[in-house]
Amino acid sequence: MKQNKSQSEAKQLDRVRDVILQAKEKAYQETDTEPEPELTSKVEWPVHCTVGPGLEGAIAAETKIGYVNGTKGTLIYRGYDLFDLCAYSTFEETSYLLLHGRLPTGTELARFQNLLRRKMVIPRTQRLLFSFPVEEMAPMAALRLGVNLMRQKQTFRDKDPLLEEISSSIAADEDSIPMETPPTGEERPIFEFTGHTADKPSTASPGTLSSEEIESCYNLLGGVASVAGTIGRIREGRLPVEPLPDLSFAGNYLYMLTGRRPTPLEERIMDVSLILHADHGMNASTFAAMVVASTLSDIYFAIGSGVAALSGPLHGGANVEVVQVLEEIGGPENVSEWYQKAREQKRKVPGFGHRVYKAYDPRARILGPLAGMLAENNEEIQPIYATAKKLEEEVVSVLGSTKKVFPNVDFYSGIVYRSMGIPEHLYTTIFAVSRVAGWCARVLEYLDHNRIFRPRAIYTGTLHEEYLPVDQRSPGGQTE
Ligand code: ACO
Repeated sequence: MKQNKSQSEAKQLDRVRDVILQAKEKAYQETDTEPEPELTSKVEWPVHCTVGPGLEGAIAAETKIGYVNGTKGTLIYRGYDLFDLCAYSTFEETSYLLLHGRLPTGTELARFQNLLRRKMVIPRTQRLLFSFPVEEMAPMAALRLGVNLMRQKQTFRDKDPLLEEISSSIAADEDSIPMETPPTGEERPIFEFTGHTADKPSTASPGTLSSEEIESCYNLLGGVASVAGTIGRIREGRLPVEPLPDLSFAGNYLYMLTGRRPTPLEERIMDVSLILHADHGMNASTFAAMVVASTLSDIYFAIGSGVAALSGPLHGGANVEVVQVLEEIGGPENVSEWYQKAREQKRKVPGFGHRVYKAYDPRARILGPLAGMLAENNEEIQPIYATAKKLEEEVVSVLGSTKKVFPNVDFYSGIVYRSMGIPEHLYTTIFAVSRVAGWCARVLEYLDHNRIFRPRAIYTGTLHEEYLPVDQRSPGGQTE
Protein backbone atom coordinates (compact mmCIF):
# COMPACT_ATOMS: atom_id res chain seq x y z
CA MET A 1 0.00 0.00 0.00
CA LYS A 2 2.77 2.37 1.12
CA GLN A 3 4.83 1.36 -1.90
CA ASN A 4 1.88 2.12 -4.20
CA LYS A 5 1.58 5.54 -2.63
CA SER A 6 5.23 6.37 -3.09
CA GLN A 7 5.12 5.07 -6.67
CA SER A 8 2.20 7.31 -7.52
CA GLU A 9 3.91 10.25 -5.77
CA ALA A 10 7.05 9.62 -7.81
CA LYS A 11 4.93 9.58 -10.97
CA GLN A 12 3.41 12.93 -10.07
CA LEU A 13 6.87 14.42 -9.56
CA ASP A 14 7.98 13.05 -12.92
CA ARG A 15 4.93 14.65 -14.45
CA VAL A 16 5.84 18.05 -12.98
CA ARG A 17 9.25 17.76 -14.64
CA ASP A 18 7.67 16.67 -17.94
CA VAL A 19 5.21 19.58 -17.86
CA ILE A 20 8.13 22.00 -17.41
CA LEU A 21 10.15 20.39 -20.20
CA GLN A 22 7.12 20.53 -22.51
CA ALA A 23 6.77 24.22 -21.68
CA LYS A 24 10.43 24.65 -22.59
CA GLU A 25 9.93 22.87 -25.90
CA LYS A 26 6.95 25.07 -26.71
CA ALA A 27 8.90 28.21 -25.83
CA TYR A 28 11.81 27.13 -28.02
CA GLN A 29 9.48 26.29 -30.91
CA GLU A 30 7.79 29.67 -30.78
CA THR A 31 10.94 31.73 -30.50
CA ASP A 32 14.69 31.37 -30.73
CA THR A 33 16.98 32.10 -27.83
CA GLU A 34 19.51 34.41 -29.47
CA PRO A 35 20.55 37.09 -26.95
CA GLU A 36 20.01 40.78 -27.62
CA PRO A 37 23.52 42.14 -28.42
CA GLU A 38 22.88 45.55 -26.87
CA LEU A 39 22.08 43.90 -23.54
CA THR A 40 24.69 41.15 -23.50
CA SER A 41 27.89 42.63 -24.84
CA LYS A 42 30.78 44.26 -22.99
CA VAL A 43 29.87 47.57 -21.42
CA GLU A 44 31.84 50.77 -21.89
CA TRP A 45 30.70 53.40 -19.41
CA PRO A 46 29.14 55.85 -19.90
CA VAL A 47 26.44 53.93 -21.73
CA HIS A 48 24.30 55.66 -24.29
CA CYS A 49 20.69 54.59 -24.18
CA THR A 50 17.26 55.98 -24.84
CA VAL A 51 15.36 56.44 -21.61
CA GLY A 52 11.56 56.58 -21.41
CA PRO A 53 9.28 57.46 -18.49
CA GLY A 54 9.62 55.04 -15.59
CA LEU A 55 13.30 54.65 -16.58
CA GLU A 56 12.23 52.44 -19.50
CA GLY A 57 15.32 51.50 -21.50
CA ALA A 58 17.76 52.88 -18.91
CA ILE A 59 20.89 50.84 -18.21
CA ALA A 60 21.73 51.13 -14.53
CA ALA A 61 24.30 48.40 -13.85
CA GLU A 62 26.30 45.45 -15.17
CA THR A 63 25.49 42.00 -13.85
CA LYS A 64 26.45 38.35 -14.16
CA ILE A 65 23.43 37.20 -12.16
CA GLY A 66 20.58 37.01 -14.60
CA TYR A 67 19.29 38.02 -17.99
CA VAL A 68 15.70 38.57 -19.10
CA ASN A 69 15.38 38.29 -22.86
CA GLY A 70 12.19 40.25 -23.24
CA THR A 71 11.83 39.94 -26.99
CA LYS A 72 12.30 36.16 -26.98
CA GLY A 73 10.66 35.37 -23.64
CA THR A 74 13.56 33.59 -21.98
CA LEU A 75 15.08 33.95 -18.54
CA ILE A 76 18.62 33.00 -17.56
CA TYR A 77 20.10 32.72 -14.06
CA ARG A 78 23.92 32.71 -14.13
CA GLY A 79 23.94 31.18 -17.62
CA TYR A 80 21.34 28.48 -16.90
CA ASP A 81 17.95 28.44 -18.59
CA LEU A 82 15.08 28.89 -16.14
CA PHE A 83 13.24 25.90 -17.64
CA ASP A 84 16.17 23.60 -16.79
CA LEU A 85 16.52 24.97 -13.28
CA CYS A 86 12.80 24.47 -12.66
CA ALA A 87 12.85 20.97 -14.13
CA TYR A 88 15.97 19.68 -12.39
CA SER A 89 17.09 21.87 -9.49
CA THR A 90 15.77 22.93 -6.10
CA PHE A 91 15.30 26.37 -4.57
CA GLU A 92 18.32 25.80 -2.33
CA GLU A 93 20.48 24.95 -5.37
CA THR A 94 19.18 27.92 -7.32
CA SER A 95 19.72 30.34 -4.42
CA TYR A 96 23.25 29.04 -3.99
CA LEU A 97 23.79 29.54 -7.71
CA LEU A 98 22.50 33.11 -7.60
CA LEU A 99 24.51 34.03 -4.51
CA HIS A 100 27.75 32.20 -5.28
CA GLY A 101 27.82 32.21 -9.06
CA ARG A 102 27.97 28.43 -9.55
CA LEU A 103 25.97 25.33 -8.74
CA PRO A 104 26.98 23.68 -5.45
CA THR A 105 28.63 20.26 -5.17
CA GLY A 106 26.68 17.58 -3.31
CA THR A 107 28.46 18.34 -0.03
CA GLU A 108 28.04 22.08 -0.41
CA LEU A 109 24.37 21.65 -1.19
CA ALA A 110 23.72 19.43 1.83
CA ARG A 111 25.53 21.94 4.04
CA PHE A 112 23.59 24.84 2.54
CA GLN A 113 20.26 23.05 3.01
CA ASN A 114 21.07 22.48 6.70
CA LEU A 115 22.22 26.05 7.09
CA LEU A 116 18.98 27.46 5.64
CA ARG A 117 16.93 25.13 7.83
CA ARG A 118 18.78 26.49 10.87
CA LYS A 119 18.27 30.03 9.64
CA MET A 120 14.53 29.41 9.66
CA VAL A 121 14.65 29.19 13.45
CA ILE A 122 14.26 32.79 14.60
CA PRO A 123 12.35 32.70 17.92
CA ARG A 124 13.56 36.11 19.07
CA THR A 125 12.27 37.81 15.95
CA GLN A 126 9.03 35.83 16.23
CA ARG A 127 8.60 36.98 19.80
CA LEU A 128 9.04 40.59 18.74
CA LEU A 129 6.53 40.02 15.94
CA PHE A 130 3.95 38.79 18.47
CA SER A 131 3.98 42.19 20.13
CA PHE A 132 2.51 43.83 17.00
CA PRO A 133 -1.08 43.51 15.72
CA VAL A 134 0.07 41.24 12.88
CA GLU A 135 -3.43 39.80 12.34
CA GLU A 136 -4.67 43.30 11.49
CA MET A 137 -1.77 44.24 9.25
CA ALA A 138 -1.45 43.68 5.51
CA PRO A 139 0.82 40.61 5.31
CA MET A 140 3.41 42.48 3.22
CA ALA A 141 3.49 45.25 5.86
CA ALA A 142 4.01 42.62 8.54
CA LEU A 143 6.73 41.01 6.42
CA ARG A 144 8.53 44.29 6.08
CA LEU A 145 8.25 44.78 9.83
CA GLY A 146 9.62 41.27 10.33
CA VAL A 147 12.68 42.08 8.21
CA ASN A 148 13.31 45.13 10.36
CA LEU A 149 12.94 43.05 13.50
CA MET A 150 15.40 40.51 12.12
CA ARG A 151 17.83 43.34 11.61
CA GLN A 152 17.40 44.31 15.24
CA LYS A 153 18.20 40.78 16.35
CA GLN A 154 20.84 39.86 13.83
CA THR A 155 23.06 42.89 13.58
CA PHE A 156 24.91 44.80 16.24
CA ARG A 157 24.80 48.00 14.28
CA ASP A 158 22.43 49.92 16.54
CA LYS A 159 23.91 48.71 19.80
CA ASP A 160 26.20 50.83 21.88
CA PRO A 161 28.90 48.40 23.07
CA LEU A 162 29.03 50.25 26.38
CA LEU A 163 25.34 49.59 27.09
CA GLU A 164 24.16 46.42 28.76
CA GLU A 165 22.85 43.68 26.41
CA ILE A 166 19.15 44.58 26.23
CA SER A 167 17.81 41.04 26.01
CA SER A 168 19.59 40.09 29.25
CA SER A 169 17.38 42.53 31.12
CA ILE A 170 14.19 40.95 29.76
CA ALA A 171 12.33 38.97 32.41
CA ALA A 172 13.02 35.24 32.39
CA ASP A 173 9.41 34.34 31.58
CA GLU A 174 9.80 36.25 28.35
CA ASP A 175 12.80 34.14 27.42
CA SER A 176 10.61 31.70 25.58
CA ILE A 177 7.88 31.63 22.97
CA PRO A 178 5.00 29.20 22.67
CA MET A 179 5.07 26.90 19.64
CA GLU A 180 2.30 24.79 18.13
CA THR A 181 4.50 21.69 18.27
CA PRO A 182 7.40 20.85 20.61
CA PRO A 183 10.66 22.21 19.19
CA THR A 184 13.15 19.55 18.07
CA GLY A 185 14.23 17.39 20.99
CA GLU A 186 11.89 19.10 23.49
CA GLU A 187 8.90 17.68 25.31
CA ARG A 188 6.99 20.91 25.82
CA PRO A 189 5.70 23.15 23.00
CA ILE A 190 7.67 26.07 24.35
CA PHE A 191 10.79 27.35 22.67
CA GLU A 192 13.31 28.33 25.36
CA PHE A 193 16.05 30.69 24.33
CA THR A 194 18.92 28.43 25.29
CA GLY A 195 21.44 30.02 23.01
CA HIS A 196 21.93 27.00 20.73
CA THR A 197 20.07 28.84 18.00
CA ALA A 198 21.37 32.25 19.02
CA ASP A 199 21.45 34.38 15.93
CA LYS A 200 24.76 36.11 16.46
CA PRO A 201 25.94 37.77 13.28
CA SER A 202 29.33 38.15 11.68
CA THR A 203 30.57 34.60 11.80
CA ALA A 204 30.24 32.97 8.42
CA SER A 205 29.28 29.32 8.24
CA PRO A 206 32.01 26.83 7.33
CA GLY A 207 32.56 26.41 3.61
CA THR A 208 30.81 29.59 2.64
CA LEU A 209 32.02 33.11 1.99
CA SER A 210 33.25 34.65 5.20
CA SER A 211 31.71 38.05 5.22
CA GLU A 212 29.04 39.63 7.37
CA GLU A 213 27.06 40.45 4.25
CA ILE A 214 26.83 36.89 2.98
CA GLU A 215 25.89 35.66 6.45
CA SER A 216 23.16 38.30 6.51
CA CYS A 217 21.91 36.96 3.17
CA TYR A 218 21.62 33.47 4.66
CA ASN A 219 19.83 34.95 7.68
CA LEU A 220 17.42 36.70 5.34
CA LEU A 221 16.80 33.69 3.10
CA GLY A 222 15.79 31.49 6.03
CA GLY A 223 14.39 34.27 8.20
CA VAL A 224 12.03 35.86 5.68
CA ALA A 225 10.48 32.43 4.99
CA SER A 226 10.05 31.93 8.70
CA VAL A 227 8.55 35.40 9.22
CA ALA A 228 6.16 34.82 6.30
CA GLY A 229 5.15 31.48 7.83
CA THR A 230 4.65 33.07 11.24
CA ILE A 231 2.48 35.81 9.74
CA GLY A 232 0.29 33.15 8.12
CA ARG A 233 0.01 31.28 11.43
CA ILE A 234 -0.80 34.36 13.50
CA ARG A 235 -3.50 35.35 11.02
CA GLU A 236 -5.05 31.91 11.46
CA GLY A 237 -4.96 32.36 15.23
CA ARG A 238 -2.30 29.64 15.51
CA LEU A 239 1.20 29.44 16.95
CA PRO A 240 4.36 28.99 14.86
CA VAL A 241 5.87 25.59 14.18
CA GLU A 242 9.56 24.78 13.90
CA PRO A 243 11.03 23.60 10.57
CA LEU A 244 11.32 19.82 10.22
CA PRO A 245 14.77 18.29 9.64
CA ASP A 246 13.67 16.09 6.73
CA LEU A 247 11.91 18.74 4.67
CA SER A 248 13.38 20.91 1.94
CA PHE A 249 13.25 24.70 2.09
CA ALA A 250 10.01 24.71 0.06
CA GLY A 251 8.54 21.91 2.17
CA ASN A 252 9.40 23.63 5.42
CA TYR A 253 8.09 26.93 4.21
CA LEU A 254 4.74 25.28 3.39
CA TYR A 255 4.78 23.41 6.69
CA MET A 256 5.52 26.59 8.67
CA LEU A 257 2.70 28.34 6.83
CA THR A 258 0.03 25.69 7.20
CA GLY A 259 1.17 23.57 10.16
CA ARG A 260 0.50 20.56 7.90
CA ARG A 261 3.18 18.37 6.38
CA PRO A 262 2.95 19.01 2.63
CA THR A 263 2.57 16.18 0.15
CA PRO A 264 5.64 15.58 -2.07
CA LEU A 265 3.69 17.12 -4.99
CA GLU A 266 2.88 20.29 -3.02
CA GLU A 267 6.50 20.53 -1.86
CA ARG A 268 7.78 20.19 -5.42
CA ILE A 269 5.34 22.68 -6.89
CA MET A 270 6.21 25.23 -4.21
CA ASP A 271 9.87 24.53 -4.96
CA VAL A 272 9.34 25.26 -8.67
CA SER A 273 7.39 28.40 -7.84
CA LEU A 274 10.20 29.63 -5.57
CA ILE A 275 12.81 28.91 -8.26
CA LEU A 276 10.99 30.82 -10.96
CA HIS A 277 10.36 33.88 -8.78
CA ALA A 278 13.93 34.05 -7.46
CA ASP A 279 15.40 36.69 -9.76
CA HIS A 280 14.25 38.89 -12.59
CA GLY A 281 16.64 41.59 -13.74
CA MET A 282 16.37 45.17 -12.55
CA ASN A 283 12.69 44.98 -11.65
CA ALA A 284 11.20 47.63 -9.34
CA SER A 285 11.80 45.79 -6.05
CA THR A 286 15.33 44.70 -6.97
CA PHE A 287 16.15 48.23 -8.01
CA ALA A 288 14.64 49.56 -4.75
CA ALA A 289 16.84 47.16 -2.76
CA MET A 290 19.92 48.14 -4.79
CA VAL A 291 19.27 51.87 -4.40
CA VAL A 292 19.04 51.51 -0.62
CA ALA A 293 22.15 49.31 -0.48
CA SER A 294 24.08 51.75 -2.67
CA THR A 295 23.94 54.34 0.11
CA LEU A 296 25.86 51.79 2.24
CA SER A 297 22.82 51.36 4.41
CA ASP A 298 22.69 47.70 5.46
CA ILE A 299 21.28 44.68 3.67
CA TYR A 300 18.29 44.27 6.03
CA PHE A 301 17.13 47.78 5.16
CA ALA A 302 17.73 47.01 1.48
CA ILE A 303 15.64 43.81 1.57
CA GLY A 304 12.93 45.61 3.58
CA SER A 305 12.72 48.14 0.74
CA GLY A 306 12.45 45.30 -1.77
CA VAL A 307 9.50 43.91 0.21
CA ALA A 308 7.82 47.33 0.22
CA ALA A 309 8.25 47.81 -3.53
CA LEU A 310 7.06 44.29 -4.29
CA SER A 311 3.80 44.80 -2.41
CA GLY A 312 2.29 47.15 -5.03
CA PRO A 313 -0.44 45.91 -7.42
CA LEU A 314 1.68 46.83 -10.44
CA HIS A 315 4.38 44.45 -9.19
CA GLY A 316 4.09 41.42 -6.88
CA GLY A 317 0.68 42.47 -5.56
CA ALA A 318 -0.85 41.59 -8.93
CA ASN A 319 -1.16 37.88 -8.06
CA VAL A 320 -3.76 38.72 -5.40
CA GLU A 321 -5.66 40.97 -7.83
CA VAL A 322 -5.72 38.25 -10.49
CA VAL A 323 -7.60 35.83 -8.24
CA GLN A 324 -10.00 38.60 -7.19
CA VAL A 325 -10.72 39.41 -10.84
CA LEU A 326 -11.25 35.74 -11.71
CA GLU A 327 -13.71 35.51 -8.81
CA GLU A 328 -15.40 38.68 -10.00
CA ILE A 329 -15.81 37.21 -13.51
CA GLY A 330 -17.40 34.14 -11.98
CA GLY A 331 -16.91 31.58 -14.78
CA PRO A 332 -15.59 31.10 -18.31
CA GLU A 333 -19.02 31.90 -19.78
CA ASN A 334 -18.81 35.46 -18.42
CA VAL A 335 -15.32 36.26 -19.68
CA SER A 336 -16.25 37.89 -23.01
CA GLU A 337 -18.73 40.28 -21.43
CA TRP A 338 -16.39 41.12 -18.54
CA TYR A 339 -13.45 41.76 -20.85
CA GLN A 340 -15.54 43.90 -23.18
CA LYS A 341 -16.47 46.11 -20.21
CA ALA A 342 -12.88 46.20 -18.96
CA ARG A 343 -11.78 47.45 -22.38
CA GLU A 344 -14.46 50.13 -22.43
CA GLN A 345 -13.33 51.28 -18.98
CA LYS A 346 -9.69 51.12 -20.14
CA ARG A 347 -9.08 48.84 -17.19
CA LYS A 348 -5.81 46.95 -17.13
CA VAL A 349 -6.19 43.24 -16.61
CA PRO A 350 -4.01 42.11 -13.71
CA GLY A 351 -1.56 39.37 -14.57
CA PHE A 352 -1.01 40.63 -18.13
CA GLY A 353 1.66 42.81 -19.65
CA HIS A 354 5.22 43.49 -18.67
CA ARG A 355 7.75 46.27 -19.06
CA VAL A 356 10.40 43.92 -20.47
CA TYR A 357 8.57 40.89 -21.90
CA LYS A 358 7.12 41.52 -25.31
CA ALA A 359 6.68 37.76 -25.67
CA TYR A 360 5.09 35.09 -23.48
CA ASP A 361 6.64 35.20 -19.98
CA PRO A 362 8.52 31.89 -19.51
CA ARG A 363 7.44 31.78 -15.86
CA ALA A 364 3.77 31.90 -16.90
CA ARG A 365 4.51 29.15 -19.43
CA ILE A 366 5.51 26.95 -16.48
CA LEU A 367 2.89 28.01 -13.94
CA GLY A 368 -0.02 27.83 -16.41
CA PRO A 369 0.27 24.09 -17.13
CA LEU A 370 1.11 23.38 -13.48
CA ALA A 371 -2.10 25.15 -12.45
CA GLY A 372 -3.88 22.99 -15.04
CA MET A 373 -2.33 19.84 -13.61
CA LEU A 374 -3.40 20.78 -10.08
CA ALA A 375 -6.91 21.61 -11.30
CA GLU A 376 -7.40 18.12 -12.78
CA ASN A 377 -8.24 16.54 -9.43
CA ASN A 378 -9.58 19.60 -7.69
CA GLU A 379 -13.17 20.49 -8.46
CA GLU A 380 -12.93 23.74 -6.52
CA ILE A 381 -10.08 24.97 -8.71
CA GLN A 382 -11.50 23.83 -12.05
CA PRO A 383 -13.89 26.79 -12.62
CA ILE A 384 -11.30 29.44 -11.73
CA TYR A 385 -8.70 27.73 -13.93
CA ALA A 386 -11.17 27.50 -16.81
CA THR A 387 -11.96 31.21 -16.36
CA ALA A 388 -8.26 32.04 -16.44
CA LYS A 389 -7.69 30.04 -19.63
CA LYS A 390 -10.60 31.76 -21.34
CA LEU A 391 -9.42 35.19 -20.16
CA GLU A 392 -5.94 34.46 -21.47
CA GLU A 393 -7.40 33.49 -24.84
CA GLU A 394 -9.47 36.70 -25.07
CA VAL A 395 -6.77 39.12 -23.88
CA VAL A 396 -4.05 37.59 -26.05
CA SER A 397 -6.30 37.58 -29.13
CA VAL A 398 -6.86 41.33 -28.68
CA LEU A 399 -3.52 42.52 -27.27
CA GLY A 400 -1.02 39.80 -28.12
CA SER A 401 -0.02 40.83 -31.60
CA THR A 402 -0.85 44.55 -31.31
CA LYS A 403 0.56 45.48 -27.89
CA LYS A 404 2.63 42.37 -27.17
CA VAL A 405 0.66 41.84 -23.98
CA PHE A 406 0.72 38.25 -22.67
CA PRO A 407 0.18 36.62 -19.27
CA ASN A 408 2.94 37.40 -16.79
CA VAL A 409 4.20 35.39 -13.80
CA ASP A 410 1.37 36.62 -11.60
CA PHE A 411 -1.42 35.31 -13.79
CA TYR A 412 -1.33 31.65 -12.78
CA SER A 413 0.60 31.73 -9.50
CA GLY A 414 -2.50 32.54 -7.41
CA ILE A 415 -4.34 29.53 -8.82
CA VAL A 416 -1.38 27.32 -7.96
CA TYR A 417 -1.31 28.65 -4.39
CA ARG A 418 -5.05 28.38 -3.98
CA SER A 419 -4.97 24.73 -4.98
CA MET A 420 -2.48 24.18 -2.15
CA GLY A 421 -4.92 25.80 0.31
CA ILE A 422 -2.88 28.96 0.85
CA PRO A 423 -5.01 32.01 1.68
CA GLU A 424 -5.08 34.73 -0.95
CA HIS A 425 -3.69 37.50 1.24
CA LEU A 426 -0.41 35.58 1.57
CA TYR A 427 0.36 35.17 -2.15
CA THR A 428 2.65 38.17 -2.42
CA THR A 429 4.62 37.09 0.64
CA ILE A 430 5.49 33.84 -1.19
CA PHE A 431 6.91 35.91 -4.02
CA ALA A 432 8.99 37.87 -1.49
CA VAL A 433 10.32 34.72 0.23
CA SER A 434 11.74 33.60 -3.09
CA ARG A 435 12.90 36.98 -4.41
CA VAL A 436 15.13 37.45 -1.32
CA ALA A 437 17.61 35.27 -3.25
CA GLY A 438 17.74 37.64 -6.22
CA TRP A 439 17.67 40.79 -4.10
CA CYS A 440 20.58 39.55 -1.98
CA ALA A 441 22.63 38.33 -4.95
CA ARG A 442 22.22 41.59 -6.82
CA VAL A 443 22.89 43.77 -3.79
CA LEU A 444 26.10 41.85 -3.01
CA GLU A 445 27.22 42.04 -6.64
CA TYR A 446 26.55 45.76 -6.83
CA LEU A 447 28.28 46.48 -3.51
CA ASP A 448 31.43 44.95 -4.95
CA HIS A 449 31.76 47.98 -7.26
CA ASN A 450 29.37 50.28 -5.46
CA ARG A 451 28.48 53.73 -6.67
CA ILE A 452 25.52 55.49 -5.08
CA PHE A 453 22.46 55.60 -7.39
CA ARG A 454 21.66 59.20 -8.07
CA PRO A 455 19.74 59.93 -11.29
CA ARG A 456 18.38 63.35 -12.08
CA ALA A 457 14.96 64.70 -12.99
CA ILE A 458 14.23 67.30 -15.62
CA TYR A 459 12.80 70.34 -13.91
CA THR A 460 9.64 71.60 -15.58
CA GLY A 461 8.52 74.04 -12.88
CA THR A 462 8.78 77.82 -12.87
CA LEU A 463 11.96 79.79 -12.23
CA HIS A 464 12.47 83.17 -10.55
CA GLU A 465 9.30 83.25 -8.40
CA GLU A 466 9.25 86.25 -6.07
CA TYR A 467 9.04 85.27 -2.40
CA LEU A 468 5.96 86.99 -0.85
CA PRO A 469 5.35 87.37 2.89
CA VAL A 470 2.50 85.14 4.08
CA ASP A 471 -0.11 87.94 4.38
CA GLN A 472 0.38 88.91 0.71
CA ARG A 473 -0.21 85.46 -0.80
CA SER A 474 -3.46 84.67 -2.63
CA PRO A 475 -5.27 81.32 -2.44
CA GLY A 476 -4.18 78.95 -5.20
CA GLY A 477 -0.58 80.00 -4.75
CA GLN A 478 1.83 81.04 -7.41
CA THR A 479 0.73 81.50 -10.97
CA GLU A 480 2.39 79.62 -13.81
N1 ACO B 1 -4.16 45.01 -19.56
C1 ACO B 1 -4.50 45.72 -20.66
N2 ACO B 1 -3.63 46.44 -21.37
C2 ACO B 1 -2.36 46.45 -20.96
C3 ACO B 1 -1.93 45.72 -19.83
C4 ACO B 1 -2.89 44.98 -19.13
N3 ACO B 1 -2.57 44.28 -18.06
N4 ACO B 1 -0.62 45.92 -19.66
C5 ACO B 1 -0.22 46.75 -20.62
N5 ACO B 1 -1.27 47.07 -21.42
C6 ACO B 1 -1.23 47.97 -22.58
C7 ACO B 1 -1.31 49.41 -22.04
O1 ACO B 1 -2.64 49.87 -21.97
C8 ACO B 1 -0.50 50.17 -23.05
O2 ACO B 1 -1.32 50.41 -24.17
P1 ACO B 1 -1.26 51.84 -24.92
O3 ACO B 1 0.06 51.81 -25.64
O4 ACO B 1 -2.44 51.81 -25.82
O5 ACO B 1 -1.33 52.90 -23.87
C9 ACO B 1 0.58 49.18 -23.48
O6 ACO B 1 0.04 47.87 -23.21
C10 ACO B 1 1.88 49.35 -22.68
O7 ACO B 1 1.56 49.29 -21.30
P2 ACO B 1 2.23 50.20 -20.18
O8 ACO B 1 1.29 50.33 -19.03
O9 ACO B 1 2.79 51.44 -20.77
O10 ACO B 1 3.44 49.26 -19.75
P3 ACO B 1 4.42 49.47 -18.53
O11 ACO B 1 5.69 48.86 -18.94
O12 ACO B 1 4.45 50.88 -18.03
O13 ACO B 1 3.73 48.61 -17.35
C11 ACO B 1 2.93 46.77 -16.16
C12 ACO B 1 3.96 47.28 -17.16
C13 ACO B 1 2.92 47.66 -14.91
C14 ACO B 1 3.30 45.37 -15.72
C15 ACO B 1 1.54 46.77 -16.87
O14 ACO B 1 1.55 45.84 -17.94
C16 ACO B 1 0.41 46.45 -15.91
O15 ACO B 1 -0.11 47.35 -15.23
N6 ACO B 1 -0.01 45.14 -15.82
C17 ACO B 1 -1.04 44.75 -14.90
C18 ACO B 1 -0.46 44.56 -13.52
C19 ACO B 1 0.44 43.35 -13.44
O16 ACO B 1 0.08 42.27 -13.90
N7 ACO B 1 1.60 43.51 -12.80
C20 ACO B 1 2.55 42.42 -12.61
C21 ACO B 1 3.72 42.56 -13.52
S1 ACO B 1 4.85 41.22 -13.36
C22 ACO B 1 5.64 41.53 -11.94
O17 ACO B 1 5.82 42.62 -11.51
C23 ACO B 1 6.12 40.41 -11.19
